[in-house]
Amino acid sequence: MPAPGSARGNGVLSKLLRRKTIIAREDQPQEQRLAATLSWPHLLALGVGAIVGTGILTLIGVGADRAGPAVLLSFAIAGAICACAALAYAEMATMMPASGSAYTYSYAVLGEVFAWVVGWSLILEYSLVVSTVAVGWSGYAAPLLLPLGFPEALTRGPELGGLVNVPAVFIIAVVAGLLMLGTRESARLNAVLVVVKIATLILFVAVTLPAFDAANLAPFMPFGFAKSVSPDGVERGVMAAAAIIFFAFYGFDAISTAAEETKRPERDLAIGIVGSMAACTLIYVVVAAAAIGALPFGRFADSPEPLALILREIGRAPVATVVAGAAVIALPTVLLAFLYGQSRIFLVMARDGFLPQGLARVSPVRKTPVRITLLTAALVAVIAGILPIDEIAALANAGTLIAFIAVGTCLIVLRRRAPDAPRPFRAPLGLLVGAGAVLGCAYLFLSLPAKTQGYFLLWNAIGLAIYLGYGVARSRVSSPASR
Ligand code: ALA
Repeated sequence: MPAPGSARGNGVLSKLLRRKTIIAREDQPQEQRLAATLSWPHLLALGVGAIVGTGILTLIGVGADRAGPAVLLSFAIAGAICACAALAYAEMATMMPASGSAYTYSYAVLGEVFAWVVGWSLILEYSLVVSTVAVGWSGYAAPLLLPLGFPEALTRGPELGGLVNVPAVFIIAVVAGLLMLGTRESARLNAVLVVVKIATLILFVAVTLPAFDAANLAPFMPFGFAKSVSPDGVERGVMAAAAIIFFAFYGFDAISTAAEETKRPERDLAIGIVGSMAACTLIYVVVAAAAIGALPFGRFADSPEPLALILREIGRAPVATVVAGAAVIALPTVLLAFLYGQSRIFLVMARDGFLPQGLARVSPVRKTPVRITLLTAALVAVIAGILPIDEIAALANAGTLIAFIAVGTCLIVLRRRAPDAPRPFRAPLGLLVGAGAVLGCAYLFLSLPAKTQGYFLLWNAIGLAIYLGYGVARSRVSSPASR
């Protein structure tokens, strides 16, 4: 599809604001072309597989610690903001069905420097989600491994008194291997695991709902609404919890990275993105209500496996074991989706000249980007091996929020700049939805811990220095070969 306009001129500003033309899949060079093997059921499964994970299984405890029973409100707020973002993604992904997600849309609509910031933020999102979920997986897997004589020091990183988190590194290696085998094979396995995951959550709800006690919901909002610092130094409130719980909702955006591998992107992407988001919101509301009603929140707020703990506390230990086992089996779907998305974003950035070209090569046999998958897996395995879960998750959220703000902005800008451009999926109440995504995500970003915001700004300062010192001159948009 033609870019909605191209920046012209020789000044530095026009370089920073130049926009890229989206190259159709058929026009990609043969060695960088991905195979189109996916249709909407795969995408729906990829979406649910990416969304339901550590957020609902583990971070629900952190959320309860930050907001008390009002974490239910945090779920509703984060869900509503993500619904706006999902609609904006569906409109952008179907207008520009090319790999690269928010990075690509920003490049085509806002300009190169914005695309760089978004791409750099997406690296934070995708890498750190993979690391977070691998550590969360290890949290559920470790209790099963320790009785077999597995050394405890090898189940957590140095900051938590261990050496290295071997299970987390192991699961990343397994998922990366699967992805290199081929997209369709990975998507099929993903679909089976998604069913396991949903069945587990339904089991949890069925067993805990009879234990629902309204007394556990009072006082409902012990820490207030806006973020404020508690006497113990932790930033709490409904919005502080929403900024963490946000982690539970995203993943639908990973679907948009599969655009080039989708048979009918204009229809399948919208079904995948909006459908998976709606289904997960429904599941979360029920699971969160069941969890909060079953036990006073203080009893599970610190747990690395809150859902299993709740079940044990209400006297259902065998079900707790089943839920923990299912989490171990099914959590890797989140890893699959995000590792997949990360490798595709790197691939597109390499195609654009921002990373070495050799990395962008697609294996002629498997038709998957093997080198870039390996590089991505190595990076996220190092992070997962040594860092603790909570701060990685908050930083992943910061990166994601910036990408969502960019996609909301793209929707608004394109509605103004190209009101009549074909939109296979048109978000209802478009401008309102775009504004909801932009303002909602900005408020969530401000509600993140101050430390996280600082790290995020540092990450982007480094990114901008690399862009100005390296990327801006190498961009293929400026070369004669660019289209
Ligand atoms: N939404 C994903 C999860 O909860 C990232 O693990």
